[in-house]
Amino acid sequence: MSGRPRYALEGVNISKRFGHLRALEGVSLRLRRGSFHALLGENGAGKSTLVKCIMGYHRPSEGQFLIDEQEQSIDNPHEAHRLGIGMVYQHFTLIPNMSVAENLVLARPCLPARIDWRAETRRLREKLDALPFQVPLDAAINSLSAGEKQKVEILKQLTLDCRILILDEPTSVLTPDEADEVLGRIKAMTRETDLSVLIITHKFREVMHYADEVTVLRKGRAAGTTTVAGTTPAALAGMMLGCDPKRMPSTRREVAVREQVLDLERLTVLDDNGEPAVRGLSLSVAGGEIVGIAGVSGNGQRELVQALCGQRDIGAGCMRVQAERFRATREEIRRHHFRCLPEEPLRNACVPGMTIAENLALREFDRAPYARCGGWLNRAAIGARAAALIERFSVSPPVPAMPIGQLSGGNVQRAVLARELSGDVSVLIVANPCFGLDFAAVAEVRERIMSARNQGAAVLLVSEDLEEILELADRLLVMAGGRLVYETTPAAADLTLIGQHMAGH
Ligand SMILES: Nc1ncnc2c1ncn2[C@@H]1O[C@H](COP(=O)(O)OP(=O)(O)OP(=O)(O)O)[C@@H](O)[C@H]1O
Ligand SMILES: [Mg+2]
Repeated sequence: MSGRPRYALEGVNISKRFGHLRALEGVSLRLRRGSFHALLGENGAGKSTLVKCIMGYHRPSEGQFLIDEQEQSIDNPHEAHRLGIGMVYQHFTLIPNMSVAENLVLARPCLPARIDWRAETRRLREKLDALPFQVPLDAAINSLSAGEKQKVEILKQLTLDCRILILDEPTSVLTPDEADEVLGRIKAMTRETDLSVLIITHKFREVMHYADEVTVLRKGRAAGTTTVAGTTPAALAGMMLGCDPKRMPSTRREVAVREQVLDLERLTVLDDNGEPAVRGLSLSVAGGEIVGIAGVSGNGQRELVQALCGQRDIGAGCMRVQAERFRATREEIRRHHFRCLPEEPLRNACVPGMTIAENLALREFDRAPYARCGGWLNRAAIGARAAALIERFSVSPPVPAMPIGQLSGGNVQRAVLARELSGDVSVLIVANPCFGLDFAAVAEVRERIMSARNQGAAVLLVSEDLEEILELADRLLVMAGGRLVYETTPAAADLTLIGQHMAGH
């Protein structure tokens, strides 16, 4: 063989079974050196499982990996690091109270017992000078925006000299502008250096714009690899599903009867440090109305949603539902048909070790027909309801007895939606509901939110995805610094003005 190896990474016939479940079946993938390669597939197709095998978190049941055309066994993440493979996750893994420099230094796998911070910082600066991203080394992580944090995550891998960078949905926490900046810079690095990138994303726009090649997984098998220049989003969607994508029947916005349902009056909510995150916020949502709250993450949206869902105390002000004082107790939530889909539902709305069926019954398990006299649970009724919801919301795999924490990210989201959107809904609070969902699921979830609205629910949609708000909302509000700073309607929306308000100008 002459010259340098053509492929940085090859997976050959990789299979992975979890018990009886075949998460991957004979998947082969070749990552050209210096290329930007996208990995696409429906929720549950096996993308995260494949990259976890590459990173040594899982051992494949069958198959081999080649790095620079040499066979390697990757038994643990340490080994992956030694081979120059680094990974960035969807959620941040940085230590919030420490500085950027401290995070980058502490990421080194073999730290001396005593750290010479001065020398380490100098070394770090030299490395960073050679990289196309700049971040303020002295800044505390919790003072950074989501885009900057994601840059630090990527820099962490690059300063560890990784040559193969794996990104699992890295842009879901970023605004489109931040995503473009981050992906553009990484793309430039693949052109200018030896870096090879494998990126999992659900966004066709990112695939078409940045990737050189794309591999599609379908139900644990490789459905094909193609150059991006030789394909289209429609063809990729067809490859993902194994058929032409069927168009969702689109739920029209219907004129609904308006009656004030949810009222927030001068609400103040404190963050974890006791500082006000929501500052005297007043807001009303009528039945049959979707009010969208746009904003850059970290401006109080999370605390607002937590207060509404009873996961955080309110500092001052008051909440009312149907003109009654509302404190988000379990009983009030049930009586008012108040439903909530918080962000990161696995962490905030599930018990990961419990089964899908049990999680689907979390709201109702202590009532008939799921509980019988004496407090005994009626497992048959819980199982039957779970099976019906799993089918209606296409949760995959359709196994009610599986721990919910073993579902793929997108399927956890579907399961929680199934629980929150079944039965009567009078108030619906949703935060980033399409986070991590594949394109078909995004369309489906938006339909369901619209139809809850048409049936009279008062919907508060908190989303970092402005397009989503423009598509769904009847009114759009911008939240910045814990306050609502601007209001408009999607029809009258001026994107520049919205952007300025989001940035706090
Ligand atoms: N630790 C585990 N135990 C059992 N089953 C698992 C485990 N991890 C993943 N699975 C299953 O393997 C399959 C593939 O999951 P994976 O997380 O790889 O999907 P994905 O393509 O990343 O989906 P998403 O787009 O929703 O993130 C799913 O059916 C999932 O339920
Ligand atoms: Mg995944």
